[in-house]
Amino acid sequence: MKENNECAIVMKGISKEFKVLNRREGLKGSLLDLFSRDYKTVTAVDDISIEIPRGQIVGYLGPNGAGKSTTIKMMTGVLEPTRGELLVNGAVPYKNRAKNAEKIGVVFGQRSQLWWALPLTESFNILKDIYMIPDQEYKDMLEFYQSLVDIEPLLHKPVRQMSLGQRTLSDILAAFLHNPGIVFLDEPTIGLDVSMKSKIRTLIHALNQEKGTTVILTTHDMGDVDALCRRIVIIDHGKMLYDNDIEHLRKFFGSYRTLKLRLSGDKKAQLEKLTAEIPECSVGITEDEEWITVLVDEEKRKVMDVLSQIQNSYTVRDMQLEEISTEDVIRKIYEDADRENGAASEETEEGSESK
Ligand SMILES: Nc1ncnc2c1ncn2[C@@H]1O[C@H](COP(=O)(O)OP(=O)(O)OP(=O)(O)O)[C@@H](O)[C@H]1O
Ligand SMILES: [Mg+2]
Repeated sequence: MKENNECAIVMKGISKEFKVLNRREGLKGSLLDLFSRDYKTVTAVDDISIEIPRGQIVGYLGPNGAGKSTTIKMMTGVLEPTRGELLVNGAVPYKNRAKNAEKIGVVFGQRSQLWWALPLTESFNILKDIYMIPDQEYKDMLEFYQSLVDIEPLLHKPVRQMSLGQRTLSDILAAFLHNPGIVFLDEPTIGLDVSMKSKIRTLIHALNQEKGTTVILTTHDMGDVDALCRRIVIIDHGKMLYDNDIEHLRKFFGSYRTLKLRLSGDKKAQLEKLTAEIPECSVGITEDEEWITVLVDEEKRKVMDVLSQIQNSYTVRDMQLEEISTEDVIRKIYEDADRENGAASEETEEGSESK
């Protein structure tokens, strides 16, 4: 494959399969498993092609188990693809990993890459040596960091004494320290409070703007997507569902409105009941659990009509009407894909029965 200098990442028909043991139940099963050769193949990533130009922030989204982390592991050279061609910074990531690592930064939200017992400043010094960052560049970077977030109090704290938020912040700063061309962030805001999330989003945005860093971001938090990504790629069951501007997607769902409701009573029970009562709409709860959301496609049914149906059985304490949110757009895509998958597997089951 020819190197494309405009592109930070080029993936062509990338798949990743894992061989996993078909485990049997019970003690006897475990013993049999010891001698078993009974493996099945799990396709975690299935024929994905994308090109990511330099400087973009791309949201790499999908439900749990979709294959996001597996893709990132291939892009960072941790895993070798089963099939397909992959170039990151013009090089094959799993070959010559040490050299490729100089040009990338990685943050996995759940675990820190920093030295646990050392104060942050020591970790930074080690990274400075590893990546041979010139003194002046290093100094400038720390000054830039200080202008973005107050890192002074963090610098002298051992990582193990940090809160999750402080640690994530430190991990992100460490990933950008050697000014890599691409930074991979796998769920960087997981488990953080609202204000820390916002701090981290501002930081990522500023680093991308100032350094022109390409950022690949996986997240389940649509607030991250709204704050950072113009382009999103959605995968499910390892397959690509969507790759385009988020605005384009919103326009596609232009006839949809989100009806936000506060009803008297238990929200979880209402969610279940409403899902059954208005199957043509997608019903959810907002992240802060304050509102029930009802996604209405006005081409099929008017919002006022849905509202009056709800008012017949519930006491509506408060309501808001909004354009479709990113959260709802993405949920809708997942649900539609699930329905299609369900329909497809029913078809194959019927097919095999009739044989
Ligand atoms: N080392 C492995 N061995 C076997 N199966 C694996 C391995 N790593 C991942 N998988 C499987 O591949 C699929 C994709 O997993 P992956 O971790 O990439 O999902 P994800 O999109 O990152 O999900 P999440 O949002 O939950 O982090 C899953 O079915 C998972 O069980
Ligand atoms: Mg993951």
